[in-house]
Amino acid sequence: MANRILIAGGSGLVGSELTAFLIKKGHLVRWLSRTPKVYQHIVECFSWNPEDLSIDENALQGVDIIINLTGESIAGGRWTKKRKNSILESRVNSIKTIVNALKRLNHKPKLWINASAIGIYGDQGEKILDEESQFMGTDFLSKTVQEWENYSVEQISPVVERLILSRIGLVVSEKGGFLRKLMSTNKFGATIGFGPGKSYCSWIHIKDLTSIFHFLINNEQSEGVFNITSPNPIKMCDLLSKIHELNPCSKIKITLPAGLIKIILGEMSDVLLSGNYVIPLKLIQYKYNFNIIQIDEAILEIVDSQKI
Ligand SMILES: NC(=O)c1ccc[n+]([C@@H]2O[C@H](COP(=O)([O-])OP(=O)(O)OC[C@H]3O[C@@H](n4cnc5c(N)ncnc54)[C@H](OP(=O)(O)O)[C@@H]3O)[C@@H](O)[C@H]2O)c1
Repeated sequence: MANRILIAGGSGLVGSELTAFLIKKGHLVRWLSRTPKVYQHIVECFSWNPEDLSIDENALQGVDIIINLTGESIAGGRWTKKRKNSILESRVNSIKTIVNALKRLNHKPKLWINASAIGIYGDQGEKILDEESQFMGTDFLSKTVQEWENYSVEQISPVVERLILSRIGLVVSEKGGFLRKLMSTNKFGATIGFGPGKSYCSWIHIKDLTSIFHFLINNEQSEGVFNITSPNPIKMCDLLSKIHELNPCSKIKITLPAGLIKIILGEMSDVLLSGNYVIPLKLIQYKYNFNIIQIDEAILEIVDSQKI
């Protein structure tokens, strides 16, 4: 059945791929963007600005499903006090803006999928983490995602029939994301790793991410938290070795010491130095069939795309 789907933050890495996928599946997709004119040629696009809680309410007319992917980039720059505020505020305000508008319009969509992140669990070493696991993180990322999720549940639940919180892993795509960045060698052909590399990387290929969102839309029993990761997390040092082995542009491997990364990036070094072993237990229980379960395939795809 064709749904009218509103994607907030649709212009980003996840949103743009998801839009193409959902349109192919026959859905009617529209976006909320702070710069709608830029995207008007791609998709029906409405204006909003979560910073001042303003929104063109026409965006919500007749909408069956809301997918909210909005948020200041986490790895976009050093975590200054201002940036940390913006990382949380942009997410909270996006929810507040849409919820207020739905209340004014007295409109209750049947589903809202809100982005979340596996950073919520904190770095728990080799411990296997599923949707029921406790959050042990006391770091900025874990605390921020906890606040983001708590706010989502409190504010969104009353205004929709079904709420899904998608705890997304590190997104792998030939168009962007962390793996492509790791694979871009410098002029000496060096693949660069960070620190001892003992932490796990729980990743998800964009093809699975988009089809999981579609799977959850169609599966009307699904609700609550879902880990959106592949079933095969990989240690960062093993990932580096695989990249070196499979990427013909990689001539040498260089590992930068953790201390140096901390000096350069400050607290944001957590993004490169910590990780967690997350499994998509609920998706497995719901019998979702993963398309890409080994990261080798994703690495080779990026090599083939010759965009690195
Ligand atoms: N990519 C990953 O590896 C990953 C991993 C875990 C979780 N996630 C989460 O999944 C969601 C989507 O990820 P993504 O990689 O597609 O993000 P992205 O490429 O950074 O795009 C997010 C979108 O949010 C909007 N946005 C950015 N800064 C904003 C601000 N300060 N205020 C309001 N809107 C702002 C932008 O849309 P406009 O400019 O059009 O307004 C942007 O296109 C995010 O919430 C992210 O935290 C991503």
